[in-house]
Amino acid sequence: MPVGQYPPEQPVKVPLVTRPLGIMETLSTARRNLLEIIPDLCTKQPMVSGKTALVRWHMVMDPDALRRILKDNLDNYPKSDITKNLLRPAIGDSLFIAEGAHWRWQRRAAAPVFSHRNIAGLVPIMSAAAEAVCARLESTNGTVDMFDEMVQATFEVISNVTFSGSGTMGSDAVHRSINAFIDQSARVSLLDVIGVPTWVPRLSRLSGGNPVADMKTVADQAIERRRLAGAKPVPDLLDLLLEGMDPETKKQMNPAELRDNLLTFIVAGHETTALTLAWALYLCAFDPDVQDRLRSEAQSVLQGRIAGPQDIGKLPFTEKVIKETLRLYPPAAFLSRTAQAADELCSREVRAKDTIMLPIYALHRNVQLWDDPDSFNPERFGPDAKHDRYAYLPFADGPRVCIGAHFAMVEAQIILATLISRYRFERIKGVDPKPQLVLTLRPEGGVKLKITSVA
Ligand code: HEM
Repeated sequence: MPVGQYPPEQPVKVPLVTRPLGIMETLSTARRNLLEIIPDLCTKQPMVSGKTALVRWHMVMDPDALRRILKDNLDNYPKSDITKNLLRPAIGDSLFIAEGAHWRWQRRAAAPVFSHRNIAGLVPIMSAAAEAVCARLESTNGTVDMFDEMVQATFEVISNVTFSGSGTMGSDAVHRSINAFIDQSARVSLLDVIGVPTWVPRLSRLSGGNPVADMKTVADQAIERRRLAGAKPVPDLLDLLLEGMDPETKKQMNPAELRDNLLTFIVAGHETTALTLAWALYLCAFDPDVQDRLRSEAQSVLQGRIAGPQDIGKLPFTEKVIKETLRLYPPAAFLSRTAQAADELCSREVRAKDTIMLPIYALHRNVQLWDDPDSFNPERFGPDAKHDRYAYLPFADGPRVCIGAHFAMVEAQIILATLISRYRFERIKGVDPKPQLVLTLRPEGGVKLKITSVA
């Protein structure tokens, strides 16, 4: 069914490629929307391989092969240069980018920061952001771009759990710098994805300005102020990371490592969570029955309150809706790795330097792994869910699984339950979002919904 036709039987999706594309067509398509170069075959087969500009590549959708890449033979599959080259200028050799021993000690030092107890302590910041969205929505009665709203809400959360108390000037400046950075590097070239050497010029790198340097300066100043002022009564991510120590080597992060990791949390955690919420609201508007069920759960648990720490674990249907949203619209829809040595995946030969792509978007819609994969059905994630663990990878898996997964799930539940308990969201005829993969899986044109108060 074409995107935008009303009412569609299924939520919006990207038409994947059903015929071989030539090299020029592949490059121009990838620049516009990386999702459109994923062959439709990836939703039917366990593995699709090819060669573009002399680089051998494999797209992997087989759960056992994915387990091997992400866990059992992790060291053979480090992140591709593309991810690293793109992000390193902004976030240094932080947790997201580092490999081997340098990654391992940072992960051990940062892991306790994200314990369930610490995150429970940060929920009031999430509740405040949910309340602020409601206050903004009070003054509108009509159409709102909920993607914009969710970007603002999750940014408030991440800036208040990293550089809280730095004053609005501080977080505004960080916000502006991050946005400038993301805009600058957003259009990932296919040349990067398949691993063509970095000396080949890329259009997106030729733009001017230095948003990254501004971003670091603002963050350095905020960290220094906190060092002088001491920890807050309820420790935030900055306090926790300042205390963090690798139990094995007793190493602690120096100021530059602290800054790079905090900026990593902002870059990795802010837009991804906003996308989850925006897509969830679109899906609720798409399926009013699910929305009604969600509302009765939220209203009976919250009793008119904003969701808070006491509600975590009490919103099972909300959690299922968020998990199903992450299946249909995984924010990190496309991961890539580079093989270091020869290996075998799905009985197929992998050579050193082959590019291994993990098209999570296609994995989550693969007909061999999911029943009726394009339909929206939160009940897939009930207690007797039967999918293979490696068929569902919104946060990846293995030792490098997203460190912020629990943080994101809690934040999404707090904000979604609060909003649905108070407002009804409806689609506007002919204005559906179109999924577009730039760095993340974004709704092109925003998520514009009609909003009415139900309180
Ligand atoms: C719904 C929201 C989120 C999604 C879908 C998401 C997804 C992911 C994925 C897929 C990875 C693995 C990337 C790869 O292996 O190539 C990852 C890693 C990571 N994420 Fe998230 N993330 C989310 C929220 C967050 C939040 C809230 C934070 C921090 C506050 C965060 C911090 C990180 C970090 C630091 C890593 C690197 C971990 C490592 O390599 O040890 N993420 N995320």
